[in-house]
Amino acid sequence: MAFKKGLFKTSIGRKNLMAFTGLFIIFFLIIHLIGNLILIIPNSFFPIEFWNNVANVHDMYNAYSHFLVHFWPVTIVAYILYAAIIIHVIDALLITLKNKKTQGEKYIIADNSTSSWYSRNMGVLGVFIGVFIVLHMAQFWLQYKILKIEHDLYHLVIATFKIWWYVLIYEIGIIALGFHLVHGIESAHRSLGVYHQKMMQIVQLIALYFSLVMAILFAIIPIILYFK
Ligand code: HEM
Repeated sequence: MAFKKGLFKTSIGRKNLMAFTGLFIIFFLIIHLIGNLILIIPNSFFPIEFWNNVANVHDMYNAYSHFLVHFWPVTIVAYILYAAIIIHVIDALLITLKNKKTQGEKYIIADNSTSSWYSRNMGVLGVFIGVFIVLHMAQFWLQYKILKIEHDLYHLVIATFKIWWYVLIYEIGIIALGFHLVHGIESAHRSLGVYHQKMMQIVQLIALYFSLVMAILFAIIPIILYFK
């Protein structure tokens, strides 16, 4: 099978590392989205105290964040995630630099007619996402997990999304993430050896719908909390 052949026979080069780290980050994003969707569950969903003193969204979100900090396997996965993000960014920079060099030497005229604008601007989208992540981590991760300045994560998140420009930055970051994901998923599969045209068409379709759903669900959280 072309996929297996590509995955096991090629050496793990930069593109493969990019694909593996990218797919791991996507795995984190799915879990992260599910956890943060708790924020928009209506309180009427909790008619009675149903588990371990959890009687409303506030309790449930803080129980979730407590679990994130105090359950050691999650801490290990978090360290793998930080490493994956750093490797992904460094690898992207190295690939972009190398491509620029090769293009300068070999291809004077690049054919842009068949590729999408977002696939040609993965670096720019990456910069938008990078700025968003730095801000995001400084606001939540640093204050709650590292410096432990804020002990009520629910309160911190709710207060943050009452500020309109924070919401705007999130929306821009999430739109950039959506486009980055569409091309990233396609490209990761290609790097890992999916060459069959029919298979690639299926991957492209899944990438498109998956990225759309992820982006919409992430994007509605700050908007709902702003107006709540
Ligand atoms: C509305 C959407 C989002 C909300 C409400 C949210 C909320 C949070 C909160 C409260 C934390 C700190 C606690 C924790 O570790 O989970 C956090 C951490 C983090 N978030 Fe988000 N987030 C959102 C979207 C995103 C997006 C789109 C990305 C990536 C592009 C992202 C990347 C991260 C990362 C890498 C961490 C650190 C994870 C860790 O230490 O385990 N978040 N987020």
